[in-house]
Amino acid sequence: MKVINSADEMQKTAESIRLQGKRIGFVPTMGYLHEGHLSLMRIARKQCDTLVCSIFVNPTQFGPDEDLDRYPRDFDRDERFCREENVDIVFYPSAKEMYPSGFSTYVLVENLGRKLCGISRPTHFRGVTTIVAKLFNLVKPHVAVFGQKDAQQFLILKRMVRDLNFDVDLMMGPIIREKDGLAMSSRNRYLTGRQREQATVLYKSLCTAEEMIAGGEKKAETILEKVKTVITSAPDARIDYVELVDPGNLEPLTVIGDSYLIAVAVYFDKTRLIDNILKTD
Ligand code: PAF
Repeated sequence: MKVINSADEMQKTAESIRLQGKRIGFVPTMGYLHEGHLSLMRIARKQCDTLVCSIFVNPTQFGPDEDLDRYPRDFDRDERFCREENVDIVFYPSAKEMYPSGFSTYVLVENLGRKLCGISRPTHFRGVTTIVAKLFNLVKPHVAVFGQKDAQQFLILKRMVRDLNFDVDLMMGPIIREKDGLAMSSRNRYLTGRQREQATVLYKSLCTAEEMIAGGEKKAETILEKVKTVITSAPDARIDYVELVDPGNLEPLTVIGDSYLIAVAVYFDKTRLIDNILKTD
């Protein structure tokens, strides 16, 4: 396994892999890897000859009051996980390498980025699309794999790839959960014992929604009310949003159809957790 720190070297290496006729699979991450990331690597591995994983805590996707400084980092641990998953190249650039002095170009997907998480995190998706566009230019993947936990991110990246004609296929891996249903996330480690116990309400609320839908409930308002009730049964949970939307345009649905996204974002003190159910026809 090779570790590359330089953007220039990453791009040249990707060019030469492509010239050999090999397929590049890519899993971009912010490190502090967990089973969720590893599952994406396994999906990508099956699609490619050379598997590249990037580890970069991207400053432009954090707001001024967010957790950039305290975001967990442990490169030695991440490197070990990558080795175990047979990753061929770990791209591990510094912030200076990715954002050289005078950096002033951003990629913005209008509209989709202003909904759901974009309301409380107004500059987040601009940071995500900018870094992913840069990573695509450096890693030159044939296929890139992202997790469903960040469903809005996936939909926005799909739109960016379509609108800007990036020559890459995007795949989405399922949400990987702890035994009690909490979606795996690097941010779970911020939770205190008491918050961790209560955090299962996100998944419970989504299971309740699924049961209601399976039982024939179609009214979004009724489903959302119940989801909110389950979440607020946890005394420390503070809802950021609970939405039922069309996954094509993220516009609210009043009645459940063949495809829908039920997305929740909940604060436990400063820690913000997200989860969702996505159904596409
Ligand atoms: O999903 C993430 O971990 C990040 O948003 C990504 C895609 C690696 C961009 O920094």
